[in-house]
Amino acid sequence: MDQAAQIREKIDIVSLISEYIPLKKMGRNFTANCPFHNENTPSFVVSPERQIWHCFGCGKGGDAYTFLMEYENMEFFEALQALAKKTGVALKNTGTSFATDKKQTIYSLNKLAAEYYNYVLIKHSVGKRALVYLDEERGLNEKLINTYKIGFSPGSGEALSRYLINKKKYKANELIDAGLSIQRGDRIIDFFRGRLMFPLIDHRGNIVGFSGRSIADEDSGPKYINTKDTLVYHKGSMFFGLNIAKEEIKKEEFSVVMEGEFDVITAFKEGIANAVALKGTAFTENQALLLSRFAPKVAMCLDKDSAGLMALKRSIPILEKRGLFITVVDYPEKDPDESIKKSPLEFKKAIKGQVEVYEYLLELLISENDIETASGKKRITDEMLPLISVINNEIIKEHYLKKLSEKINISFDSLLKQIDKKAEFVEEKIIVKKQKGSRREILEEYLLALILQNGNPKEMLIKSNDFLTNYKFEIPAIEKIFKELMSVINAKKFDIKIISKNLASELLAIFDKCFLMPLPKFESVQIYEEEIIRVMKEIKLIFLKEEISKLSRSAKDEKSDEKIEKIREEISLLTSSSPKI
Ligand code: CTP
Ligand code: MN
Repeated sequence: MDQAAQIREKIDIVSLISEYIPLKKMGRNFTANCPFHNENTPSFVVSPERQIWHCFGCGKGGDAYTFLMEYENMEFFEALQALAKKTGVALKNTGTSFATDKKQTIYSLNKLAAEYYNYVLIKHSVGKRALVYLDEERGLNEKLINTYKIGFSPGSGEALSRYLINKKKYKANELIDAGLSIQRGDRIIDFFRGRLMFPLIDHRGNIVGFSGRSIADEDSGPKYINTKDTLVYHKGSMFFGLNIAKEEIKKEEFSVVMEGEFDVITAFKEGIANAVALKGTAFTENQALLLSRFAPKVAMCLDKDSAGLMALKRSIPILEKRGLFITVVDYPEKDPDESIKKSPLEFKKAIKGQVEVYEYLLELLISENDIETASGKKRITDEMLPLISVINNEIIKEHYLKKLSEKINISFDSLLKQIDKKAEFVEEKIIVKKQKGSRREILEEYLLALILQNGNPKEMLIKSNDFLTNYKFEIPAIEKIFKELMSVINAKKFDIKIISKNLASELLAIFDKCFLMPLPKFESVQIYEEEIIRVMKEIKLIFLKEEISKLSRSAKDEKSDEKIEKIREEISLLTSSSPKI
C-alpha cells in the first residue's frame, strides 16, 4: 500500500487522463464529457490540486488507480503495475491478488499457445495444408500471417496440451481455465483441433482467446469456434484487430467495423488499417464504449446479407447511446473480403463515400417497399421510427423525420404521434432513474462544496458550526465530515488537502464530489459568504419544520408542546431574518 501512495505522488492525473480523453481547463480544474456514461455537456471533472476525478452525471470518481480500473477494466493490482511502469517505480515483490495472478497465467499461456500454433503453421509439415490454403485461397503472405500471429492447431488432439504441461510445466487445470484444453475422461485434450488459429488480442496487446476456423469440408463441425468465456475473455467485449488498428482509427477519426477476421486482414493488406471485426454479432454496449475511446465515428461495413443488415439495425441504438456518429460503407459484392479482392479501388471509394446510416436505411426501405400504398408506408415507418427516435442529436433527428415525411408523403405530426405512442411506456423508467436526493440533501452537499472551495474554509467552518448547532444532517456522511473537520480545526496548519488524505474512504467519495462541484461565480467574498448563510438558513428551516411535524405526530409527550413552541420561535426568527426564504 505504501508503494501505491508513492506512485500516486509521482503520477499527474491530468496527463494520465488526457491520454484517454481530451480534457479542457476550467478554472482550477479540468473537465470533459464523462467516459463512463453518455452525455453532451461535460460533468466529468479532474482536479490537479487533489489529483482526483469525479463525474457529477453518473457519480463515479476516485484517483488515478480507480480511473484505470474503471476505464481499462483493470483490477487494482493491474492498475498498480501499469502506473508503476509509467512512473519507473520498481514494485517490490509484495505479491498480487489471486485474480490478477490467474489472469496473468492465462495471458502467458495464450501467448505460448499462439507462438506454438504459429510455429506449426509456418514451420511444421502438419501446417502445410493450412499454409497453402492461406496463400492460395485467401491471399495471405507470411508477413500478414505474422502481423496477426495466425497459426494452425494440429488435429492430433493433444499436442498443445502436452507441450504446455510437459515442456512448459503448466498444470492441466490452468490450461482448462485458459480455455485451451478440455477434460475428456481422465485425458486432457486440446480445445482447438485442426483449425486455422486467430489470436484474439485486446487493445492493450494481451491475447485473451482464440477463434479457430475449420479448413476441412463443410460437414466437419462449425466453420468458426471461439474460446469459451474465461476470466479474461467474454463474448462481445473486444474486437478482432483493434490492437493493430487503434492508432489508425485515432488518426482517421473513424473506425471501420466489419464482420470477420478475413475481412479485416484483407482490408489491412490493401492499406485500410482502421478496420476491426465484431466477429459476426451486433454491437454490445461494452464494444460501443471501447470503440468510442478511439474515434467518435463508426463506419459500419458488415456483410451484405440479411444477417448483416439485422446486426446493423440492432447496433444502431447501442451506438447512439454512446453518442457515436454512425455511417455505412456501401460496397459492391457480398462481404468486404470479396469486395476488396475484386477491386480495392472500388472498395476504397465506398469508404470515402460512406453515408449516414439513417440515409442508407431509408433509401434501402424505399427501394424495397411500395411507397404509394398504406402498407408500404407502414412497413417503412415501423422500421425507421424506432431507429430515428433514439437519435441523440435533435437536429439530426428532425432532419430525418422531415426527410421520411417528405419521401413517403406522411405529415410530420403523424410521424411524431406514432413515435410518442411507442415511447410512452419506456419513458416511465427513465423518470424514476433521474430522481435525485431531497432538497435538503442537495443543499447539504452544496453547503459542503461552498465551504471546501472557499478561500477561507476554516473560518466558514467555524461559522457554520455555530449556526448549525442542534442541526442534524440528512446525509450522515456529511455530518461525519463536518465533525472530522471540526476535530482538527485548531491544528497548526488547517489544510483541506492534508485533511482529505486522512479521511475514511467511505467519506472520501462525497468529500471529493463537493470539492469538485462546479459552483456559481461569486462577485465578491461577501456575496460568497451570503450564499453560505442563505443555504444554512434554508436547510435549518427545512430541518426545523420536519422536527415539528415529527413532534406533533408523537405529541403524547408532555414536554413536546414546550419544545414545539421553542422551535416555532426559532423558525419565526429565521424567517424574519431572511427575506429570501
Ligand atoms: N463467426 C463466429 N462464429 C460462427 C460464425 C461466424 O465467430 N459460428 C464470426 C467469425 O469471426 C467470422 C464472422 O463471424 O469471420 C463472419 O461470419 P461468416 O460471414 O459466416 O464468415 P465468412 O465471412 O463466410 O468466413 P470466411 O471469410 O472465413 O469464409
Ligand atoms: Mn462474411
